[in-house]
Amino acid sequence: MSCCHYYQFTEHGDTVFSVDISAIKFGPGALQEVGEDARDLGLKRVAVFTDPILAKLPYLQTVSASLLQAGVDAEVYSQARVEPTDKSFQDACRFAVEGKFDGFISLGGGSVIDTCKAANLYSTWPASFETYVNAPLGAGQPVPGALKPHIACPTTSGTGSECTGIAVFDYLEMKVKTGIASRALRPTRAVIDPTCTYTLPANVVAASGFDVLSHAIESYTAMPFSQRNKPASPAVRPMSQGANPYSDLGCEKALELTGRYLVRAVQDANDHQARDQMMFAATLAGIAFGNSGVHIPHGMAYSVAGLVRDFQPAGYPDDEPICPHGMSVIVNAPAAFRFTASACPERHRHGARLLGSDEMDVDDHESGNLLAGQLISMMKATDMPNGIGGVGYEERDIPHLVEGAYAQKRLLQQSPRSIGQDDLAVIYEDAVRYW
Ligand SMILES: [Fe+2]
Repeated sequence: MSCCHYYQFTEHGDTVFSVDISAIKFGPGALQEVGEDARDLGLKRVAVFTDPILAKLPYLQTVSASLLQAGVDAEVYSQARVEPTDKSFQDACRFAVEGKFDGFISLGGGSVIDTCKAANLYSTWPASFETYVNAPLGAGQPVPGALKPHIACPTTSGTGSECTGIAVFDYLEMKVKTGIASRALRPTRAVIDPTCTYTLPANVVAASGFDVLSHAIESYTAMPFSQRNKPASPAVRPMSQGANPYSDLGCEKALELTGRYLVRAVQDANDHQARDQMMFAATLAGIAFGNSGVHIPHGMAYSVAGLVRDFQPAGYPDDEPICPHGMSVIVNAPAAFRFTASACPERHRHGARLLGSDEMDVDDHESGNLLAGQLISMMKATDMPNGIGGVGYEERDIPHLVEGAYAQKRLLQQSPRSIGQDDLAVIYEDAVRYW
């Protein structure tokens, strides 16, 4: 690997990377096979996690019928919350403890899958809630061992949560978004049926699609694994290892697919080829970022989503203001990549080309603008908010936004260029409005 100049070995840097992925089943009709998947894993009684909206759609019936046919007893928990909280996680955990299940199935977007991961964790290895929450907000204790089998069935082409060991939630009393991260949380199997996305509103496809795109380009431009200090022992090598030759493969393909299909998938719900390919891109990007990690746009998104005042996009629950995850990420991305480009201009330039830019002869110092310009043209074509101003923020909000983003050190340290609070303020200023 030392032949590739992005992965030059350094005196104290790591020389080893690992690849951890869920077993994957992908394709139209895959959901009908979930009962046999559960039986293969030896499951006799499972909890099926979903949310109140999905509980009314036919996909839950498909899963329930498949489990019944396979002779697997199932009980449904349909109260998983969009944008889960520590409170909603704990409610789901109580259900998991009381039901005495031998396995879990999640059917939904990232919020449902993350809720199921937490319920599996705390019912398998009971502990006070803060025990496994990322430090410094929680104790950041390692998970003591394996969890029960979890089959994750995503219904949006976005988070890639079915392939990662991360569960994100709002810590209510601390007023901050954080998470639990452990390889043990990674679902045992991902059953990915792209037909679940055919009925999604355009705005949901756009937001989740830009989450996919940003997973791919952030992982691709993340600090290389060989620049992170060698761990004291293999057990403490972080899950987010930094960019590596394996994650590059998934990122490059996911960028090519999002460049070709994201706008089509948003603009035409009947373009099933585009929606299928976006689901595949989400899976590839999920595997990639689960092993490498994302950086500045996701770090900045925590406060963009957390401090939202009155933004209410079409296609989402209308009971309270919400900035959907993918939107909260992509509104920062063009400005963030203008900042990071000098650290690895060739990756920014190549990323823009994979996304469809046809500008060929661009100097290193213009590579950030090239990538930003490509992202902005895709945002315009899909009616995404025009920067953080488009979701309700003004210049006077920037100090608060910086404070929340700077707390996401786990993500910021993955940036290829080191970043301080002043840099974050400059990036947020650049992100107020793009066109
Ligand atoms: Fe994300």
